[in-house]
Amino acid sequence: MKNIVIFASGGGSNAEKIINYFANSPLARVVLVLSNNTNAGVLEKAKAHEIPTLTFTKEELNNGWVLRHLAAFNPHLIVLAGFLQKFPSEIIAAYPHKVINIHPALLPKYGGKGMYGIHVHRAVLENNEAESGITIHYVDENYDEGNIIFQQSIALQGCTTTEDVAAKVLTLEHEHFPKVIEQLINETM
Ligand code: GAR
Repeated sequence: MKNIVIFASGGGSNAEKIINYFANSPLARVVLVLSNNTNAGVLEKAKAHEIPTLTFTKEELNNGWVLRHLAAFNPHLIVLAGFLQKFPSEIIAAYPHKVINIHPALLPKYGGKGMYGIHVHRAVLENNEAESGITIHYVDENYDEGNIIFQQSIALQGCTTTEDVAAKVLTLEHEHFPKVIEQLINETM
């Protein structure tokens, strides 16, 4: 049984999909949800599923405190699901090829610092893109630049607001993220 740990900063709809997907899986389960935001909706979702949660300050993320607590849960895979702070290189180094992120666009387009959530969708819309999509990738030292594991595009036909784009992209995330995690665990662990 592999241990999945999730970092999230917001509502956590992706985290919840992953929790549910693996709830009865013989392969893996979510053992811990961490957040930098004590008001994040993801914490309530985790508690409702009786999954331990941990919140931390920026300092605790970067001074080894989070890394020490993580170790106690023996993570096989660390999943960033709407985690909006820079992920520390110490944690990446401690878990090589075990930290992955989902980005709500087709990287390398619309990635980098400041490109998250609604900012991404606004830029996509302003550039009159015919399509957007999702990217699941390994996390390295630079924002949104790690090796790509999976991408899926979707036509933006009929999308006139950033909310329209966000909703379409989120549907794709929910559909694919848990399955890609499952495949990754099956193939690499
Ligand atoms: C998701 O769309 C995810 O791709 C995005 O935040 C949202 C979180 O939604 N992540 C980024 O923009 C990271 N750069 P959720 O909290 O409902 O899962």
